[in-house]
Amino acid sequence: MKVQVAIIGAGPSGLILGQLLAKAGIDAIILEAHTGEYVLGRIRAGVLEQVCVDLLDEAGVGARMHAQGLPHHGIELLVEGKRHRIDLHGLTGGKQVMVYGQTELTRDLMDARKAAGLTTVYEAKEVAISGFDGDHPTVSYVKDGIRHDIHCDFIAGCDGFHGVCRASVPKDSIRLFERIYPFGWLGLLSDTPPVCDELIYAKHPRGFALCSMRSRTRSRYYLQVPLSDKVDDWSDQRFWDELRLRLDAEARQSLVTGPALEKSIAPLRSFVAEPMRFGRLFLAGDAAHIVPPTGAKGLNLAASDVRFLGHALIEYYGGSSHGIDRYSERALRRVWKAERFSWWMTNLLHVFPDTLPFEQRALEAELDYVLHSHAGRTTLAENYVGLPFEE
Ligand code: APR
Ligand code: PHB
Repeated sequence: MKVQVAIIGAGPSGLILGQLLAKAGIDAIILEAHTGEYVLGRIRAGVLEQVCVDLLDEAGVGARMHAQGLPHHGIELLVEGKRHRIDLHGLTGGKQVMVYGQTELTRDLMDARKAAGLTTVYEAKEVAISGFDGDHPTVSYVKDGIRHDIHCDFIAGCDGFHGVCRASVPKDSIRLFERIYPFGWLGLLSDTPPVCDELIYAKHPRGFALCSMRSRTRSRYYLQVPLSDKVDDWSDQRFWDELRLRLDAEARQSLVTGPALEKSIAPLRSFVAEPMRFGRLFLAGDAAHIVPPTGAKGLNLAASDVRFLGHALIEYYGGSSHGIDRYSERALRRVWKAERFSWWMTNLLHVFPDTLPFEQRALEAELDYVLHSHAGRTTLAENYVGLPFEE
């Protein structure tokens, strides 16, 4: 079989890229290791930057997001029992974010792909890539016990952190940057109305907490927990009790609790692989970088990469290789700004087990500055809503 672009992975990166290429008439196939239901079953964040919203519109999949997503003009930071509103809209000249779950977004992308009759091979096993350092890359996979070969012009590695694409690059041509944090986030999803109209990021001596939402009737809450904790250590009751302890009196009062639909612990990690292009292989999304969830940048960075990559491939088939030659540099420039922001937000709002007294006071002073200076709040706001694309 021959296609122009072979996309590995049907997460948000692979699906958005597939949609952009299809709209431009470029022939692509997506190979996904798991089933569609499995991909949809993973609960992930759901705060979209305006540029991400615009990209989904460009890809032709924005209708349900506009109808059901919740535009947010601000976020709340809860520090020492006091709420501080960051007016995202006012501080950024009218920008906002859209709260819309990654699961819903993935479903919209899958539906659009299906409706257009585009090929996605689910449960593609033993996916292997080769020849990307020359002009004729090949992707091979096994489906229902039969091995298939795909000959293509380009491979898009959209296969997440544990995928095969980054792992197939020779060790001496890739540089990895990593920071592991000494705690995780315990998340709970429940069919209860959100405690507040806006997201609350809470810094508390017992640990960070986040009140988020998926809709007006479905909430998502998180607690900073030690990495040694197991989900089974946390009954629903214990979760709600601990969350209350980390909130302010107003939130404690209005918090509606209910049974958990899902509960899981995720470790926090910062990670970047450089470069993001190896001959005819491009990495995008979690395959190339991971951010801690504090800044809600994971999905947005995936979208930003495939925007650069999609446009670069369209340009290539239009006759210019300028875009693909600059892909890695352009993508990484934006990636590192979001990495810096996510790392900074994480440091600012979490309790670290071994912070030295001087560092502790310096961090407190920094947070005080961010909350009480116009410049500080503006910096937070413009990064949170998403930095503009530098073309
Ligand atoms: N072959 C085929 N598919 C694979 C392989 C493989 N060898 N390895 C992994 N995959 C698939 C995974 O099953 C997954 O569905 O690639 C997909 C990668 O999807 P994501 O992990 O969601 O990564 P990405 O599309 O880059 O999206 C990043 O998702 O993880 C969140 O917070 C992250 O919001 C961010 C976004
Ligand atoms: C979420 O809703 O899951 C969420 C929101 C904001 C974050 C992280 C996660 O910063």
